[in-house]
Order: sequence, then structure tokens, then C-alpha cells
Amino acid sequence: MTAAYSHDHGLGDEQSIWFKLTPLMNEDNPMQLLMRLADKYGGVIPINLKNQRIILLSDVEHFKRVLVENAENYTKYFDGMRPVFGNSMITVDGALWQKIRKPQQAAFHPQKFEEYFPFLMEAIRTKSKIWEDYAKSGETVEMVEQTWTLAADMVCKALFDRKMPFNPHFVFGMVKTYTDVMNHKEIRLKKTTGELEEVGEADAAKAMEHWAKVPDSILGSPILENREKTLLRMILDAEADPDFPEFDHQQVVDEMKQYLWAGTETTALTLAWCLYLLSQNPGTANKIRAEANEVCGDKEPTWDQVAQLSYTRQVIQETMRLYPPIWALIRVAAGDDVIDGHEIHEGDKVVMCTYLVHHSPKYWTDPEEFRPERFAPERMKKRVKYSYLPFSAGRRSCIGGALSQIENMLALVTLLRRFDPEYVGEVPAKIQSTVTLCPKGGLNFKIRELG
Ligand code: HEM
Repeated sequence: MTAAYSHDHGLGDEQSIWFKLTPLMNEDNPMQLLMRLADKYGGVIPINLKNQRIILLSDVEHFKRVLVENAENYTKYFDGMRPVFGNSMITVDGALWQKIRKPQQAAFHPQKFEEYFPFLMEAIRTKSKIWEDYAKSGETVEMVEQTWTLAADMVCKALFDRKMPFNPHFVFGMVKTYTDVMNHKEIRLKKTTGELEEVGEADAAKAMEHWAKVPDSILGSPILENREKTLLRMILDAEADPDFPEFDHQQVVDEMKQYLWAGTETTALTLAWCLYLLSQNPGTANKIRAEANEVCGDKEPTWDQVAQLSYTRQVIQETMRLYPPIWALIRVAAGDDVIDGHEIHEGDKVVMCTYLVHHSPKYWTDPEEFRPERFAPERMKKRVKYSYLPFSAGRRSCIGGALSQIENMLALVTLLRRFDPEYVGEVPAKIQSTVTLCPKGGLNFKIRELG
């Protein structure tokens, strides 16, 4: 496929950092290569490529410098991901970012979560019904796709006040096709009907055409309860605001795309990796069930009980330490800087590897062990600042982090009390570092219903 084709469709190009990091893909755990590099060469590793310089950072003090102390010197990096996120808030900087974020902020205030609770539970019940059928048929399911369809349903119902009007499996496949093809040439070969086929840029372009239509399909679908202040209402009010001409219909579409991917893939990966870890640690799964029985009796959780599901929360937090969905935060230096004695030049791409600090023995005892108790409230004070950054830090940190934890706590508790999802893939599961930390080839499970 020609470069012109990519250009015409605004698709990512081979200059993207994700593309440049492709050689890491050949390892079973590409992160181990990065860890060896950091051990050998220290926390600041400049990599000179033909026409750009990448600086790999893996020390908490460096993260603090880029994300907090000198944050205005570093802008967001989204090359190759524009068709997925458009020009939504997650991608823009400065005054425009502030202006776009302000009208949406209130939707993520913890006080709103009680309003979302019944919609989150409804989406989980729907998933539970689907799993009942899988348990009966005994078929193998890929867990990230399972948890993504759940997360997308939650966003549609709770934040947009709409039923999910699209086929989530189809849409998930479309975005995956795009991110795989555009960022990692090595995984362009896909087995579809038993034959190896090349999935190319034309497929990626088609996938993004479908994706671009999803927000309008949601806007055109019936309103669920006409709640007064949903996130979607806030976005539409911003569009209607005559003092905010930048917030046009395309901005509405882009903001929705952002929530439908940034707000779902990460949440879904966390839950899927969590179920994988629990399948390897059945004692921990039983502790979640025991906590749920103690707090909720034999009923579904009520909103007031959620805060008491403390162990369940710790399991999710530990999952995000071992498998941070966003394994690296990337910024572009807007001007020169000095980090730990190393000169950073304007235009350098700074890659902060959160995975490395999450797995560093400098900050965690036995870092490769799955120990949810590390996150017990009484142990939180001892943690080194910036050593745990699943949601980033500073002003550009995740707007939906707290909500995602509620979503995953409710899903874990509800699904685990009824099912015993059994991981049937290779152990350990292999990692693929695309924009997110994905399981290579997915996570295959059989769903078993508890007696
Ligand atoms: C486990 C779940 C999640 C993880 C690990 C996660 C992680 C992150 C990270 C690391 C960033 C910062 C990216 C950067 O600085 O380059 C971010 C930003 C963002 N996230 Fe999340 N996220 C999660 C769930 C959600 C949810 C549920 C939503 C909304 C429904 C959401 C919406 C956003 C938005 C809009 C931003 C951009 C914020 C801004 O730039 O002002 N995320 N997320």
C-alpha cells in the first residue's frame, strides 16, 4: 500500500514511536528487554534514530519532572492514533485542553457514581446472561473482547444514557485491526479462516470508516432515561454554547470516540488481566467471593456497600501494577530541558515507562509476585511517590480512573460469585506492547458456572 493512501485517510505512519518500538514485539515479554536496558544504562536512555531522538525514562524523579514540575514543557504525543481519538481532549494541549476538559469534568466527580451504579449493574447483568450461555455451550472465549464489550456497554448506559446501538464485537475488531496494522507491521499477518492473510492498510482505513460512524449511531439511538446531567449532555451543551465555537459537532464526535476507546480498552484490559491472574491464584478469587459474601450476603452489592469491598479493590490495583494498561506515557519536548544531567532537546520524544517502575525492586518487594495486600490502606503511606502510575500523574492524569475501578470492582464481584472463568491459554501469558499492554494472541477462557 502506498504512503499516499495513509496520508489520504489520515492514518498513522511509520514514523510513529509505536512503530519504531516494533522490534520489541519479538520477545515473549518485550518489557524484560526494556528492564535489562534500564539496569545496564540507567534511568535515562537516549536512542538516536534516523530523524528523531527517543529518550526512555524509568525513574520516579524523571516522571515527576516531566509530568508535574516542568509539565508545560512537554506536549502530548498521539501520532498514528488520530483516527481513533480525533482531536479529543486526551490529544490536545494548553488552553484548548483546559477549555475542552472543563465542561466534562463534573461527570467524573465521585458524587456522580451513585447515579451511574444501576446502569453499571445492568450492563454486568447482561454480561452475566451471556456467560450463562457460554458456560452451557462450553465454548472458548477471548477475555479482552468479553471485557471490552462490557466496558463499552457501561460507558453507553452510564455516561451517554443510551443502549449500546452497535455490535460491540464488530467495533472492537475494527479498532484492533487499525491499531495492529498501523503500529506494528509484524502483526499484520492474521489467521482468519485458518489461512494466514495479510491485513493491510486498506483494511485499517475501512475499519476507521466504521469507527468514525459510531458516535453518530449513539446520538441517533433512543435516550434511556433522559437524565439531566449525563456526560453526553455536558458535551452537547458545550457544542450549543455560542461562546465556545471550537466545540463543534466534530468535537462531539471526537470526545465520544475518546471515551469509547480510552475509557473502555484500558478498563477491559485490567479486568481481563485480573481474571487471568485470579485463574492462576484461585485462593485470591475465593477471598474476593468471601469478602462479597461478608459485605453483601447473598445479594448483589448495593451502592453503599461498594466502599467496603476493600480487598477486591486491592486485587484490581495490584493487577494494574503488574499489567499497567498504559505501559508508557509519551510526550514531546516543546523546549530544551535537563533531566538527571542529560540534555533534552526540543522535539525529543520522551517515553516514560511506567511498567519499569511498577516492576522495579527499588520500589516494590518481590515485584514479580502477585500480592494484592501491598495495596492495603495502611501500607499506602510507605509507597514511594510516582512509583505507581496506572493513571499517570499531574494535571493530565486520567479523568476516569476512579470510575474504572468502581466498574471493575462491581464486575469482578458479580461475575466471580456466579462463575469460575478458567484460563486455558499458555502460562505465562505473553505480552504485546502496542499502545496498550495487551496479551499476545488474546486470553482464552472457558466459562464455568459455579454449582
Ligand atoms: C483501568 C482503566 C484506565 C486506565 C489504566 C487509564 C489510563 C489513563 C492514562 C495513563 C491516561 C493519561 C495518558 C497520558 O498522559 O498520556 C489517561 C487519560 C485519560 N483517560 Fe483514562 N484510563 C482508564 C480508564 C478511563 C475511563 C473509564 C475513562 C472515561 C470513561 C477514561 C478517560 C480518559 C481521558 C478522557 C483521558 C485524558 C484526560 C486529559 O488529558 O485531560 N479513562 N487514562
